[in-house]
Amino acid sequence: MKVIVVKDYEEMSQKAFEIMASVLDAKEDAVIGLATGTTPIGLYSKMIEDCKKGRSYAKVKTANLDEYYGIDPTNEQSYVSFMKAKLFDHIDIEQNNTHIELSNAKDAQAECDRYTALLEKMPRDIQVLGIGSNGHVGFNEPNTPFGSDTHVVELTESTIKDNSRLFNSIDEVPTKALTMGIKQVMQAKKIILLANGKNKAKAIRDAVKGKVDPICPASILQLHPDVTFIVDEDAASLL
Ligand code: GLP
Repeated sequence: MKVIVVKDYEEMSQKAFEIMASVLDAKEDAVIGLATGTTPIGLYSKMIEDCKKGRSYAKVKTANLDEYYGIDPTNEQSYVSFMKAKLFDHIDIEQNNTHIELSNAKDAQAECDRYTALLEKMPRDIQVLGIGSNGHVGFNEPNTPFGSDTHVVELTESTIKDNSRLFNSIDEVPTKALTMGIKQVMQAKKIILLANGKNKAKAIRDAVKGKVDPICPASILQLHPDVTFIVDEDAASLL
């Protein structure tokens, strides 16, 4: 595991972009795993600039980590809407090459199984991760078994509270989600995990220095052969 401590959000996004660009330079049809949340927005802005400067994303394929369950995909709070607004609508990617769990699938478990099978067929060259303040990756909440496949999650109170800042009220936050399992996260060839801010410091300490234990889902990354944490000074303050 490599840990890069950077000054601030801008530097974190730049460093992440450099790693992403090196993957895309090597393979124009790379499969990239993407994350939502406020953390990777700076990285996505840099990918948009990169496309405007001339790189084509037409052959790139994407697979997102997770999606809320029980809302319409057109709802502006869905993660598919987020990805369109923050990245896909601004680059030349083919819509058919972007993948995410379906937020209003009738049968949630069948949708998870479809997604697990899809990921088997499109191994990711790189996976971008954020981290929850409780150490979650994707929506793999504390105590999720490390061997889990894509599954339905009952979100914890702490995650609902953290994510409520993006909704009009806490009652609007969906209580369920569909997420790639830890197993699928670990299958990516290369992983970058980004974190900024003091509220991530404990999760980063537990992930980097703690015991590899499902209580901190991100701690499993210690066992991945090619993972880089890019954290700002605040998020690194307990290391
Ligand atoms: C959300 C997402 C995660 C994300 C995390 C952190 O719940 N499911 O994939 O990494 O929480 O979000 P943020 O980047 O906004 O702090």
